[in-house]
Amino acid sequence: NKAQAWSARFSEPVSDLVKRYTASVDFDKRLAAFDIQGSLAHADMLAAAGVISAEDNTAIEQGMARILEEIDAGRFEWSLDLEDVHLNIEKRLVELIGDAGKRLHTGRSRNDQVATDIRLWLRAEIDQSSGLLHQLRRRLAQLALEHADTIMPGFTHLQVAQPVTFGHHLLAYAEMFGRDAERLADCRKRVNRLPLGAAALAGTSYPIDRERVARTLGFDGVCRNSLDAVSDRDFAIEFCAAAALIMVHVSRLSEELVLWMSPRVGFIDLADRFCTGSSIMPQKKNPDVPELARGKTGRVNGHLVALLTLMKGQPLAYNKDNQEDKEGLFDAADTIRDTLTIFADMVGGIRVHPDAMRAAALQGFATATDLADYLVKKGVPFRDAHETVARAVRACEEQSCDLADLSLEALQAFHASIQQDVFQVLTLEGSVAGRRHIGGTAPDRVRLEAERVLDDTASF
Ligand code: ARG
Repeated sequence: NKAQAWSARFSEPVSDLVKRYTASVDFDKRLAAFDIQGSLAHADMLAAAGVISAEDNTAIEQGMARILEEIDAGRFEWSLDLEDVHLNIEKRLVELIGDAGKRLHTGRSRNDQVATDIRLWLRAEIDQSSGLLHQLRRRLAQLALEHADTIMPGFTHLQVAQPVTFGHHLLAYAEMFGRDAERLADCRKRVNRLPLGAAALAGTSYPIDRERVARTLGFDGVCRNSLDAVSDRDFAIEFCAAAALIMVHVSRLSEELVLWMSPRVGFIDLADRFCTGSSIMPQKKNPDVPELARGKTGRVNGHLVALLTLMKGQPLAYNKDNQEDKEGLFDAADTIRDTLTIFADMVGGIRVHPDAMRAAALQGFATATDLADYLVKKGVPFRDAHETVARAVRACEEQSCDLADLSLEALQAFHASIQQDVFQVLTLEGSVAGRRHIGGTAPDRVRLEAERVLDDTASF
């Protein structure tokens, strides 16, 4: 007996399955506060334009305040028969205030209404996740500052390559998350445009003032074409792309945390609250949180592909396909929000084992490149230096020792220009300290860069 808002046109009701299939209220009710915010701005503009009376506008404000209370208190009765968040709220408004409530939808359609709701909601999500990205960057920079001098092996192909500082390694992630925040800020510019006024697709003949509504709602401007305004979800796709990259970066960090925490590596420990035990093996402490984050990357990547696919074949203007934009978008936003919150906390609680890092850096001839560079500085062409050092490494391998363990005489047998000062570059400390240019791994440079990130994120 709860007839649909459009049912006068139809001769039979939809089946229960079709009702459930087409309804979105179960998931779009989370847009309720934004739906009300948009309605209030619309009603205020209608009143200012003389389309509805000031009394009607006041009644709408009062009714909506009451509805918001009911929703917040969990007392609002959501009905599947009323299809979506928009019709549920409108129906309740009419129950509460009568004809004034019936006038709210003047010059508006659910098509421009829902596009407005999503944009308002997404803008808030972007602001929150940007803040979280900067908090995570701060934690990384704080740990980097503590470990500006801690030496670890840097890897290529997962083989020991050259020594780096742990602080430098952490700041690589601060850079990635910094670009992610820039991407969100860029996406926000295109999210923050007002679709209202487009109505169903063609605009409306009422004397509406879209700029006024945009100002009320804090939008930077209005969508300039009504057909585009109600139909495109490219802004949501952009957000999912940015979210997917955030998760890809989280996933790379997770992979390293898992590796570093493996007893075979032993570079770090995660605080117990981010690990779980095994139901069968009593000795286990597993890095579940980073593993799960690595896994959740898959679902966010999936939401991006789903949204791209949702959009690709749609003719102008609005099609019901677009109702499918929400669940994936919501989940992408929820996933990055929770993940970034947890990671900021987890990075702050990392316990570092500098001795294990140092021992690993001493294996695998990490300073071989430094020896070659040393020879070059003595006038040896780089290709010859490379070959000389390769021979020295082979000799060390046969004797199971490090380059720095060879005596000066033994080194001079490889090249006569080698002097006592060679031992300054053959040490791990000498190797990293030499790389003091912008972007380099030297402890002094790492301290500067960490301070820069801390300044950059000071307000978060
Ligand atoms: N629930 C719909 C959505 O999410 C609202 C717009 C419905 N418009 C329509 N013409 N059926 O897209």
